[in-house]
Amino acid sequence: MTANGAPYGLIEDGALVLNGDQITWVSARKDLPADYRDLPAEDLGGRLVTPGLIDCHTHVVFGGNRAKEFEMRLEGASYEEVARAGGGIVSTVTATRQASEEELLVSALARVDALIAEGVTALEIKSGYGLNIDTELSMLRVARKISEVRPVEVRTSYLAAHAVPAEYKGRADAYLDEVCLPGLEQAHADRLVDAVDGFCEGIAFSPDQMKQVFDKATDLGLSVKLHAEQLSNLGGAVLAASYQALSADHLEYLDETGVKAMAENGTVAVLLPGAFYTLREKQLPPLELLRQHKVPVALATDCNPGSSPLASLLLTMNMGCTLFRMTPEEALTGVTCIAAQALGFADRGTLEAGKRADLAVWNVDHPAELSYRIGFNALEKRIFGGAA
Ligand code: NIG
Ligand code: FE
Repeated sequence: MTANGAPYGLIEDGALVLNGDQITWVSARKDLPADYRDLPAEDLGGRLVTPGLIDCHTHVVFGGNRAKEFEMRLEGASYEEVARAGGGIVSTVTATRQASEEELLVSALARVDALIAEGVTALEIKSGYGLNIDTELSMLRVARKISEVRPVEVRTSYLAAHAVPAEYKGRADAYLDEVCLPGLEQAHADRLVDAVDGFCEGIAFSPDQMKQVFDKATDLGLSVKLHAEQLSNLGGAVLAASYQALSADHLEYLDETGVKAMAENGTVAVLLPGAFYTLREKQLPPLELLRQHKVPVALATDCNPGSSPLASLLLTMNMGCTLFRMTPEEALTGVTCIAAQALGFADRGTLEAGKRADLAVWNVDHPAELSYRIGFNALEKRIFGGAA
């Protein structure tokens, strides 16, 4: 899979040359330059090679789980009703505050290992279940630790603007002033933050409140992204795009104004079919408008305990196709090169000379099979930075 213009960028009978953690050459095997012919080689038996997969939106670090809330929703309560009744994000906050960093690491690794087993070589991890400075920092430290104990690249996002914690109920502005903004300064000073995220929604923060968070991020030189237009249209995507956000995510209620703003500002649309499925949402994200305006579309698991307890990027690809009518080619680019763009990576996401040697080798005959199967892992092996 490369950027050669063929469907999927597919090269039949291709060859790759790796040097250390880099790809130095990729094309048809018959064109392999003489210089490379005597290098030690591995025959992959005609298997498909793709870039390592990238999960560009996750909340894998959290305490507890929300199976009870799952039961409530099946009995008819909506996601918003559960949240307003003190369940939802706030209940995970209680469990996360009670957990030690070691416990958070162990539970997150189980989810990260499931992603790695499917060929994921990079993922984004958000804070947002601490909602006090200490626990937000703990979550980010755990996220950083994951890349030390597993062969995977991690990008962190500071998401203290995820919900208003119980002790600030009805005082969202005070929460922003006293926790979210000073916590961001602290986390940035500790080098724990790669980007700043928020949840712009009736049950979370308004566009004006998000603006304050984005202004602080901009002052600190950090990129932003936003959970936008998930349950209603508050104009979050327009706001995010006006800050040249890396991405706006969810987007079921996005309208054409938002799509155009994203197109003009290079903001990636990250679609999250796991949350759409779990919440039994009926409103589809405006895929056709995104295509018309050439907004790049990524797919991610949104792995979290409430709206998307999903730790499979392959199943996410299948859902992107079956639920959102993406093509299998869009699904694959959505978890490779466009997911890389959503995280601001310039050095990975495609198989090209000069890119990192993060590869996934698959037991499939055709790339569409990656999206077509349900609950089937065709990964033969994964290579991270040139090492198996
Ligand atoms: O991406 N939308 C807001 N945040 C998460 C849900 C988190 C939760 O319910 O715990 C999401 O869907
Ligand atoms: Fe999310």
